[in-house]
Amino acid sequence: MKKLHSIKGTHDILPNEIHKWKALESIVNQTCEQFGYQEIRNPIFEETRLFSRSVGEETDIVTKEMYSWEDVDGASLTLRPELTASVVRSYIQHNLGTLSPIQRLYYSGPLFRRERPQKGRQRQFHQFGVEAFGSNNPEQDVEIIAIAWKILSLCGLANDTTLNLNSIGSNECRNNYRTALKNYLSPYIKDFSKTSQHRFDTNPLRILDTKSEKEQEILNDAPKISDYHNKTDSTHFESLKEFLKDMDLPFSINHKLVRGLDYYTGTVFEFNSDNLGAQDALLGGGRYNRLVETLGGKPTPGIGFAAGIERFLIAMEQSNFDAKKSNPDVYFVCAENKALSRSIVISSRLRSLNLKVVSDTLRRSMKSQLREANKLKVKFALILGEDEINNSTITLKDFTKGTQKTIPQSEVMNFFEDLTI
Ligand code: HAM
Repeated sequence: MKKLHSIKGTHDILPNEIHKWKALESIVNQTCEQFGYQEIRNPIFEETRLFSRSVGEETDIVTKEMYSWEDVDGASLTLRPELTASVVRSYIQHNLGTLSPIQRLYYSGPLFRRERPQKGRQRQFHQFGVEAFGSNNPEQDVEIIAIAWKILSLCGLANDTTLNLNSIGSNECRNNYRTALKNYLSPYIKDFSKTSQHRFDTNPLRILDTKSEKEQEILNDAPKISDYHNKTDSTHFESLKEFLKDMDLPFSINHKLVRGLDYYTGTVFEFNSDNLGAQDALLGGGRYNRLVETLGGKPTPGIGFAAGIERFLIAMEQSNFDAKKSNPDVYFVCAENKALSRSIVISSRLRSLNLKVVSDTLRRSMKSQLREANKLKVKFALILGEDEINNSTITLKDFTKGTQKTIPQSEVMNFFEDLTI
């Protein structure tokens, strides 16, 4: 059979890198719990219309990036390309709003987008994120941004990261701004790319995202959305900025930040890294005050963010974040087959002390078992050889101290019980 490979744009997360994932996951879980957020886990696939309704029919994600298929019963299903829609669906379905006027949720898991793979961009990637339902106050916005900031700081990424902030205002603001932007762009649009020309008709605000330098230059003089904010939009945004200043949380206002998903209203933000190249968005989010209603729930404000785990890990690599490898504590060397049962029993007792104990199952020579123990960077080896069996003893090799001693087997448990490792 021809050699099998993982699908383009998907990656195995191998044992030699898993400690980094776990270190990040642990920071995320602890931080979110510190802020009173509870974990939610949603299915990997959902009805397609959940995403087309929420993310938006005309968005890149929905028009070209979703993995969708028709199920045997004719239902159109999709591998989730993002998680906000699923969390909102779940919030409505389980009436989470009736449990408390504020719901604070966090999540992590795999997502699927059929994008062109490159550094920091996969077809199966992973995100962690948070969503808060119920409050439309700017202190909720600052709470969400503070969670992101705390996680970035604990990962050693705060110094190389910029918080880009904008408010895309209310519906009324966006409608007025759309008209103003189109008026401004109409003399130039014939020279813009096909994508921008299409966006001019379908979603003009997304033109602000264009990667073309020439188009960006023209956009530099375009009207700014903040000039179209109504009183409520600007009061909210000003308070948010004040709160961020109070927290010494640096930010930069980016009038062109609109984000690529249609559900946003008001505050939008991204944390961009200096160390990631083209795919520099570590994390993005914003308010979506109409999404719960759009998906059939009671009008409920919401705000959240999601971060790309792979991108975090690339950036953490460069910031020299030290994720500790989880090596076993003890390697049990059993050099005589007649002592296997003894070795199994002692190993198992040691594990009940919460120690990580590995023993050989290949019946290798003492020398190669010790070589393996060394390779695994264990702290101790316990050795049962001919002499030890005859004398009911066991040899204890301490790799950290470079010492070795032989003790009665009956004292092994005491030794490890008294130890703090
Ligand atoms: P998003 O900007 O589409 O927002 O994705 C958030 C983050 O996921 C990005 O900043 C990036 O780090 C990562 N990401 C996105 N696509 C890929 C990819 N193909 N490969 C690797 N990483 C990727 C959302 O998903 C919204 N649901 C965020 C949100 C939550 N807004 C409100 N609540």
